[in-house]
Amino acid sequence: MAISVRPIKAELTRSLRQQILRPMQTLEEMKWPRDDDQTTLHLGAWADDRLVGIVTLYPQPMPMDPQRPQTWQLRGMAVDSQFQGQGIGKLLVKEAISQLQYRGVQTLWCDARVSACEFYKSMKFVVISKPYEKPPVGPHVLMKLDLGTL
Ligand SMILES: CC(C)(COP(=O)(O)OP(=O)(O)OC[C@H]1O[C@@H](n2cnc3c(N)ncnc32)[C@H](O)[C@@H]1OP(=O)(O)O)[C@@H](O)C(=O)NCCC(=O)NCCS
Repeated sequence: MAISVRPIKAELTRSLRQQILRPMQTLEEMKWPRDDDQTTLHLGAWADDRLVGIVTLYPQPMPMDPQRPQTWQLRGMAVDSQFQGQGIGKLLVKEAISQLQYRGVQTLWCDARVSACEFYKSMKFVVISKPYEKPPVGPHVLMKLDLGTL
């Protein structure tokens, strides 16, 4: 199956966010505060004309090291359940990394669900916090990736 990854508009992220990440919330609640910032980047993975994966990225200091320059956050990482485990998440993160390297970003971080921690580790992210609760979703850890070392 040929998958293509490319930038998408914020509106297109909402359905997968709700289905995969926050089924307990409404579609309206899938509009997140930084979605329409000029610098925010939304990437979509397409299988023909079906959107099967999403991720959102924007500049945001990292909670544990707020002075660190050129730091971006990764959010809303989701792959359609029928398409998980086929390398689509990896394609999305790889494209995110190359887009951010082009922009001079040094550090990428995320609030990772503990259940997705191994996925991020497979992309060379490292855990930098103890687990914490993030209602209404559950346990998370802070993870980061130094783009300069890739
Ligand atoms: C987590 C998620 C984005 C990963 O995307 P994916 O397309 O399923 O993952 P990939 O097929 O690209 O997997 C890449 C690697 O991570 C591993 N991996 C993926 N999900 C994993 C999981 N939940 N647990 C352990 N390993 C996992 C794969 O085995 C693979 O390893 P490899 O490179 O050694 O073969 C996707 O499964 C998903 O949307 N899950 C539900 C929502 C979620 O948890 N999102 C993250 C919120 S922080």
